[in-house]
Amino acid sequence: MDGVLPDDTMVQSSVGQCLYHPVRTNEESVEDTEKLVIRRFEARFAPVVASWVRDDAELFQLTPTTPPPLTPEKVLAWVRPNGRAYLGFQGGRKVPCLYGELNPMRTNDEHLWIGHVLADPGCRGQGLGQVFVRRLVESGCAEFFAERISLIVFPDNTPAVRCYERVGFTLNGDEHHRFGPKQRPYRMLRYEVLRPRGSAGGSLYCGTDAQAQPRSAQISPRTPHGQRAIHPDGSDTDAHDSGS
Ligand SMILES: CC(C)(COP(=O)(O)OP(=O)(O)OC[C@H]1O[C@@H](n2cnc3c(N)ncnc32)[C@H](O)[C@@H]1OP(=O)(O)O)[C@@H](O)C(=O)NCCC(=O)NCCS
Repeated sequence: MDGVLPDDTMVQSSVGQCLYHPVRTNEESVEDTEKLVIRRFEARFAPVVASWVRDDAELFQLTPTTPPPLTPEKVLAWVRPNGRAYLGFQGGRKVPCLYGELNPMRTNDEHLWIGHVLADPGCRGQGLGQVFVRRLVESGCAEFFAERISLIVFPDNTPAVRCYERVGFTLNGDEHHRFGPKQRPYRMLRYEVLRPRGSAGGSLYCGTDAQAQPRSAQISPRTPHGQRAIHPDGSDTDAHDSGS
């Protein structure tokens, strides 16, 4: 999910983890990769990004801790001091059509999480989201030397789940968060990719790797595998304190 950090309190599944290797899948042609240019986020595009959320329900799926309506100021507040926000530009256009963030987990700079992946409704469903997320992962490996990249998503957000799976993210377990004034509980899916030990980064493959263990510090008695929480406010925390 975006704006929500993967959670230390998650219940890990036995699903195999995804290792990072060539980021290009068989389906992705050279044309695909060239039709989207990734640049660092610029504040002047915050109003454009804010205009892409179609309704309150979509905003909740994107970031359950950002109250509606989404405003440029709230978009600017997503960008974390130690994180990086990116924009995707289609076919040399001057106005972006995709937004997303790469943020380090607080206790482990080599563990990143992807937040607030959002596309202009007019460009959705064309595979651009997948190209964009792949580029984020490539950037995480090449620039941040990421060993692990995580995200969390609501199970019923089918386009997002499909997009992440097509990139190569694999289901790593469930996370349970509470959102809203009534602190209603929600189940979320945690997806991850890992970079194989000893690799230089920038490439991705999927498969299980028994050696690829979480490197995050053990910070919660409810985190059997020592992983930290990813929360909708864009922070990873010691305790299960997510909420809006
Ligand atoms: C998530 C998001 C960025 C994806 O961007 P995108 O450019 O549409 O993604 P892609 O086209 O690369 O991939 C979407 C995939 O979902 C599929 N899909 C879309 N709607 C679907 C539906 N209702 N049922 C099944 N599959 C669906 C598409 O066919 C595509 O899969 P394919 O390549 O196998 O055909 C975009 O949907 C978005 O901005 N959503 C709103 C914000 C949000 O929820 N962000 C994610 C928060 S975790």
